[in-house]
Amino acid sequence: MRIAVCQNKGGSGKTAMVVNLAAALAEAGERVDVADVDPQGNASRRLGARPDADQATISEAIKCDALGAARDAYVECGWGGVYSERIRVLPARFELENRISEAGTVGAVKRLKRAMAGCDDGRTTLLDCPPSLGHLTQLAMVAADAVLIVVEPEFDGIEGAVRVLAFVRDHAEDLNNPRLHVAGVVPSRVRAGLGVHDFQLEGLATCFPRLVWAPHIRERAVIKAAADSVAPLRSLRTLPAREMADDFAQLAARITRLKETVA
Ligand SMILES: Nc1ncnc2c1ncn2[C@@H]1O[C@H](COP(=O)(O)OP(=O)(O)OP(=O)(O)O)[C@@H](O)[C@H]1O
Ligand SMILES: [Mg+2]
Repeated sequence: MRIAVCQNKGGSGKTAMVVNLAAALAEAGERVDVADVDPQGNASRRLGARPDADQATISEAIKCDALGAARDAYVECGWGGVYSERIRVLPARFELENRISEAGTVGAVKRLKRAMAGCDDGRTTLLDCPPSLGHLTQLAMVAADAVLIVVEPEFDGIEGAVRVLAFVRDHAEDLNNPRLHVAGVVPSRVRAGLGVHDFQLEGLATCFPRLVWAPHIRERAVIKAAADSVAPLRSLRTLPAREMADDFAQLAARITRLKETVA
């Protein structure tokens, strides 16, 4: 199963969600792919898979426009241990921007799906999208079975999430993927006690009936620490790191259940 992690607002915690869910799935024994569909390459770096200049990336795989073209571009997660054994990364660097100019070419939006064809082998794939609804996110949406929205409980964040929901509803067929749907909305970077967050968190279930997943992801410095030190949360061995890893484990279990219902 492939899940595109999206939000039409930057900095909402999409990449943190992808990286920490991948870790949680791997800890639970699952094999995971992370497709970095963002030219920022943040997921690639945080997973210790920043590509060398001569290394093939998701950009070349898309450009090929051939079935299975991504096969040789996957690399191991650089964290070591079970993470390296179970997490593969389809890495990105800035040149992925060049694929955007192909948006006007007929059928170009299907190129990532074609590139990934036959590469999954029963794995769960998380696609880390940029904060837009443009060509790169559309490439991911064509390739995906479902969309997960990550939302900070603030006005702009909720508006961004509403745009993603409407986009999927209105354009799944245009993207040749009529079964594409939003499987969940995960509140992220939640500051407890911050009035606006408490208020908007309460309203989320009204904006997104039956879609809001629990637990929400709290704002915690340890998320930044793990990202900056290119390490999984559990390796930090502090109580906040363990608590956050446990929260991601609960969300990962929900993804595993979702995979079972899709299969
Ligand atoms: N729950 C959290 N607690 C604390 N910091 C967080 C949390 N989630 C994300 N961050 C930090 O906030 C910043 C933005 O997060 P992240 O890069 O995951 O968001 P994004 O939605 O992927 O951004 P972009 O739209 O640029 O792709 C990063 O520095 C990240 O480490
Ligand atoms: Mg990101």
